[in-house]
Amino acid sequence: MSNIVILTGAGISAESGLATFRGPEGLWEGHRVEDVCTPEALARDPAMVLRFYDARRAALGRVAPNPAHRALARLDAEWPGGLLIVTQNVDDLHERAGAKRLIHIHGELLSALCRKCGGRARFAGAMLGDATCAACGAADALRPDIVFFGEMPYEMEAIDAALARADLFVSIGTSGAVYPAAGFVRIARAAGAETLELNLEASAGSALFDEGRFGLASEVVPAWVDQLLAP
Ligand code: OAD
Repeated sequence: MSNIVILTGAGISAESGLATFRGPEGLWEGHRVEDVCTPEALARDPAMVLRFYDARRAALGRVAPNPAHRALARLDAEWPGGLLIVTQNVDDLHERAGAKRLIHIHGELLSALCRKCGGRARFAGAMLGDATCAACGAADALRPDIVFFGEMPYEMEAIDAALARADLFVSIGTSGAVYPAAGFVRIARAAGAETLELNLEASAGSALFDEGRFGLASEVVPAWVDQLLAP
């Protein structure tokens, strides 16, 4: 076994203190996903959307990577074969833990997208107010660099290529409710990969996986990585 593709979702960051989307505590701080995470919402009420993501960006300063993020960073550093971590999360906890071979399929809180020039640039702080585009200087044109519902996820070509040569596909902390990520397990299976789900509980797509290990990410992920890297 040499090529590993790992898909992560909100469950891997839950123990860092970032709420999941579909958990009992429900994220979105009283907002429905459809009210903040669509191009239509941005056009209708940009201040609400920017304020919402400004709050989530600010919250990053109050959280830290947990043992699951650190275990994946260790696997990334030590695994001699191919490896790609595809995260649906817009937080920066994988990279703060040290992961390098990482794709943010749904974008990043710490990135801004200019609606005028299409430029993407690292962004910290608040977007609501007088933020200007670092590339073209346009005022009032920045939006969160987040893939809204109905928009094209990032880096699908690279992800498809990694899935096509995967020997092992591992899904961690995701409910499998949002496509295309929810379909990766089927693509990996069709390519001949073994498939493993690590999650708090069985998800809607659990039957698609060869194996499931259920429990807290901070426990099951380090245990799996230890097993994989054991001599
Ligand atoms: P969900 O909130 O849908 O699912 C989180 C999963 O993590 C659930 O299956 C939980 O059982 C599991 N979980 C919760 N706590 C856990 C823990 N401590 N350890 C392990 N697992 C745990 O989140 P996602 O599947 O990531 O899109 O949601 C997918 C996308 O929906 C998000 O990327 C977001 C949202 O719309 C965008 O923002 C574009």
